Amino acid sequence: MTDPDQIKACCAAVYSTDAVGALLGETYHPGGRQLTRRLADRLRLQPGDRVVDVASGPGATAQLLALEYGVQVDGVDLAEVVVHRARQRVIDAGVADRVRFHVGEAEHLPLPDCSADAVISECAFCTFPDKLSAATEFARVLRPGARLGLADVITSCAGLPRELSTAAAWVACIADARPPEFYRTVLSDAGLHTLVVERCDDALSRMVDDIESRIRLMQTVRAFDALGVEVDRVLDYTRLARQAVTDGLLGYALVVAEKR
Ligand SMILES: C[S@@+](CC[C@H](N)C(=O)[O-])C[C@H]1O[C@@H](n2cnc3c(N)ncnc32)[C@H](O)[C@@H]1O
Repeated sequence: MTDPDQIKACCAAVYSTDAVGALLGETYHPGGRQLTRRLADRLRLQPGDRVVDVASGPGATAQLLALEYGVQVDGVDLAEVVVHRARQRVIDAGVADRVRFHVGEAEHLPLPDCSADAVISECAFCTFPDKLSAATEFARVLRPGARLGLADVITSCAGLPRELSTAAAWVACIADARPPEFYRTVLSDAGLHTLVVERCDDALSRMVDDIESRIRLMQTVRAFDALGVEVDRVLDYTRLARQAVTDGLLGYALVVAEKR
């Protein structure tokens, strides 16, 4: 599947389902809140800073940044249902005065030039069909000297097995994952200088294990019947993904870059 509109529509549809929340838990990325804090620490956030969370998903990161770092957050996600849930989350958490969510695309951020002190995007760059446009948008909204923090699934140069190159694997952040060198190049082309690439492959392995445990648990109470999840297919993916991590074909990394 290479049609960008089809990929985006598929992402919006999948991440809007209740099944995704049931399988992934509170945050939709490896390493959960702990890795979000590690990335946020590298962005040198100050209370009152304006942070853009691109592909903000269920809003857990925006909530954490507002509560723990005292920053103002603009979350952007293309799925309307997901944005609605995220808005409810920050209302419930009492930080709605510091967090706004927008329905929008990474490739066309609905925010002004040079308005952000930091941009963060976790486990989503790998799903964007036009990565250079997204990186160019990150650079456009950042003020000079400000930082971008990406956390993303990465591959080795050897590529992935065919079974992990399907449309479903694209939406699951795997099929269009790229090697670390790609990030340096695409960010540099967008005007962002990479400062750090930190491998966190163990976080991806743990996420695969967690998904599998949730599936097994939910299988016992037949919770998937209502959610329409094809259990065997998901278990096949977790097995293939775990093997790819073990073989060094798939990993996870934090990437920090600065706008010159
Ligand atoms: C794996 S989830 C990660 C969500 C969140 N960053 C987190 O870590 O919990 C990927 C998210 O990216 C969003 N997304 C995918 N493509 C997008 C795009 N082109 N622009 C904006 N959001 C996008 C999806 O709707 C989904 O919420």
